[in-house]
Amino acid sequence: MALMFLSPDDPAEAWRDVLLAAIPDLDVRIWPQVGDPTEIDLALVWRPPTGELARYPNLRAILSLGAGIDGLLAQPGLPDVPIARMVDPSLTRTMTEYVLLAVLRHHRQFDHYEREQRATRWSYAFPPQAADRRIGILGLGVLGGAAAKTLSSHGFPVAAWSRTRKQLAGIQSFAGKGGLPAFLARTDILICLLPLTRETAGILNAQTFAGLPRGAYLINVARGAHLVEPDLIAALDSGQLAGATLDVFSEEPLPPGNPLWGHPKVLITPHVASYSLPSTGAADVVENIRRARAGQPLLHQVDRARGY
Ligand SMILES: NC(=O)c1ccc[n+]([C@@H]2O[C@H](COP(=O)([O-])OP(=O)(O)OC[C@H]3O[C@@H](n4cnc5c(N)ncnc54)[C@H](OP(=O)(O)O)[C@@H]3O)[C@@H](O)[C@H]2O)c1
Repeated sequence: MALMFLSPDDPAEAWRDVLLAAIPDLDVRIWPQVGDPTEIDLALVWRPPTGELARYPNLRAILSLGAGIDGLLAQPGLPDVPIARMVDPSLTRTMTEYVLLAVLRHHRQFDHYEREQRATRWSYAFPPQAADRRIGILGLGVLGGAAAKTLSSHGFPVAAWSRTRKQLAGIQSFAGKGGLPAFLARTDILICLLPLTRETAGILNAQTFAGLPRGAYLINVARGAHLVEPDLIAALDSGQLAGATLDVFSEEPLPPGNPLWGHPKVLITPHVASYSLPSTGAADVVENIRRARAGQPLLHQVDRARGY
């Protein structure tokens, strides 16, 4: 049996080489050169074409090259086999870097100085203390948890909101719909690191923004569909929000006519917040190849009913 590698964005040969270094007799087939579809029992994928995975009748498991599997779960005819998502130290580290950078940029008012420089203005603004800037993270999973620890170690008061209550040293935990208003009311910089599910789609909306203190900031590094874009623009224009850093969008690439491009309070990056590497991501993939073939539960296995 063989593993199919399919991704428009990841380095296929580098992945094949690290997998072969760990499992020398692994039959790796790089899409679209997959041969007989009945010989494929494992699929290591990111953004497969719609319906493609339904072509492999002997598939045992789908191993995602991404942490978010909302795109996969939305595919019609997705085979009913276990799905594992990507958990990789490089993915976690790069996300933490991005979030720290975005928080510090807002906290130390670099967004303000960028605007002032364009207007040739020397505009001293007294910087607040980290202890006075409350960070709130939506989602306290692998990525939200790592970001929370790093921001807390920089002296920011950090709280996080998740489905179930958590105990993480130094991090205030809020949970469920009932915990959201109190979480928002104490959050000066809101970071979204939720998976995209039926429950979380559109969560970054006018009501959520109104629940934040006036002048708060938004950092969305999760999925574009978490955000209601017109609500963000209205909140920025009214001053309810002071700025936003956006890495993900409902439509990617963001179309040239989208008003977010030219908004003076918005920083846009092209879905680059974090990335996995074959050299660090392979360990869990190798273990999951072994587990899938042994019929055992996978590491980081997705709960399809929950949607993440
Ligand atoms: N921009 C990028 O480059 C990039 C890169 C990688 C990932 N991402 C995005 O980041 C997301 C998070 O990744 P992860 O690895 O940290 O995921 P994860 O480990 O599965 O964590 C998800 C967190 O969200 C919470 N959650 C889920 N549904 C919720 C709900 N309805 N209400 C409240 N909390 C809820 C979970 O709560 P419980 O702990 O209670 O289950 C958990 O704390 C991915 O799904 C992906 O969309 C973006």
